[in-house]
Amino acid sequence: MRILIHGGFFSESSQSNETKLLKQKALLDILEKSKVYLKNNNAVSTSIFATSLLEDSPLFNAGIGSQIQQDGKIRMSAAIMDGTSHKFSGVINIENVQNPIFVAQKLMREDDRVLGGEGATKYAFKEGFPLFSTETKERKIEYLTKKENLGTGTVGCVVLDQNGKLAAATSTGGKGFEIPGRVSDSATIAGNYANEHCAVSCTGVGEDIVSGALATKIVTRVTDGYALKDAFKKTFEELKPYDGFAGAIAVCKNGDVFFSESHPKIVYASFDGESNTVFT
Ligand code: GLY
Repeated sequence: MRILIHGGFFSESSQSNETKLLKQKALLDILEKSKVYLKNNNAVSTSIFATSLLEDSPLFNAGIGSQIQQDGKIRMSAAIMDGTSHKFSGVINIENVQNPIFVAQKLMREDDRVLGGEGATKYAFKEGFPLFSTETKERKIEYLTKKENLGTGTVGCVVLDQNGKLAAATSTGGKGFEIPGRVSDSATIAGNYANEHCAVSCTGVGEDIVSGALATKIVTRVTDGYALKDAFKKTFEELKPYDGFAGAIAVCKNGDVFFSESHPKIVYASFDGESNTVFT
């Protein structure tokens, strides 16, 4: 059993020691809860469970605490990939739900598995998700004072379960101050991808992650025989010509886990089958 979770990027200068410790505690707490959950659940359910807990923490930019776009609205994106069935589902720019990842979960049973904008929001309400504002006081102040948020980031989780199955889930509140309609990487196969060999969740600048086809490239390279570490090395090298800003976490069927970042610093915690590691 392996679980890795991430809470996105932050700028060291934007963060007090107190926030750092709070993030560390939140990540370890979510990791512990997810380990317990994984004992009786599969990789897909556990990746959704962990991501929903990350969405519920205002310390991260997903669900509660999501960043606000140019027009004052919050639009969130989330996706799940089941490495066994090869099914991908997601919501792009959904509004007014607490947990976008649960809407993505509902979509797993549909023929139309990726919904965007108004269609995604309408689908959630039709399915009984209650209206919920994920806006926090902190994000509102940043929006009103036009202060860029450098302290919170996209969240995600990758899991290898006891039956050797893999899954990835990712959720984001976007970049902040973006043009309404901008599409994040998180609900694309660049930001979230898995198959029976490897599962990857990304964070960073969506445009760079999509340009680098990050998650898909790492998974494909592992599938074609690369060691996980080498798949990361080559894929991150390819971000360099355009100074791509990205980070990723991954787990393989053989139990290998890895993370990397193009710039400091991704916030991350993992369980490698024996012990926990936390990096904030
Ligand atoms: N990685 C999140 C975003 O760029 O929207």
